[in-house]
Amino acid sequence: MQIADVPDAIDHELVSKAQIEAKIKETADQVSRDYRGKNLLLVAVLKGAINTMAAFSQALSIPAQLDFMTLSSYGSGTVSQGTVTIRQDLTADVRGRHILIVEDIVDSGHTLAWLVDELKRRGAASVEIFALLEKPSRHEVHVDLKYRGYEIPDEFVVGFGLDYDERFRNLDSIAVLKAEVYQGEQA
Ligand code: IMP
Ligand code: MG
Repeated sequence: MQIADVPDAIDHELVSKAQIEAKIKETADQVSRDYRGKNLLLVAVLKGAINTMAAFSQALSIPAQLDFMTLSSYGSGTVSQGTVTIRQDLTADVRGRHILIVEDIVDSGHTLAWLVDELKRRGAASVEIFALLEKPSRHEVHVDLKYRGYEIPDEFVVGFGLDYDERFRNLDSIAVLKAEVYQGEQA
């Protein structure tokens, strides 16, 4: 789906389809060099990272295994303590594996900080992160991003896997919603 298909919902585009593809290609080239011969395991958190995972994994020129996790974070009070619950776990045994977490967006950073610790606790040989988007002004905990995409302002975005109330995940670019969309929900 493109912005032109839902003109009433989208205020403006923030990162175009071409920009997303270019950044993913550039990062995949770098990762292919860095992980050659390392039996790379890609880990994505569902559902937001699905599109980034699909595009990124295909852009690699080295073999990689793909695995997924579903996590749920508690409300703001608990999230600040980094409390995350696993709703669906990985299928891979991560012991001794070189892992690259493929993420859609780093907002507060709590989910990623927790995940890095958890994978290391399970005995991964290395854990690094590629995040397509980040909102630096919203970071609450420090997360080391080895591979980073685009910095965006503190605005709620949808598209390329990211949703608002499960909508707009299948938009092919990253965009900011019109205020009416949220107001419509509250009415
Ligand atoms: P964090 O733990 O606060 O860094 O964010 C965790 C998750 O919240 C991200 O992986 C996204 O799935 C979701 N998220 C954060 N910002 C946005 C946004 O602007 N739009 C849609 N989802 C978001
Ligand atoms: Mg996510």
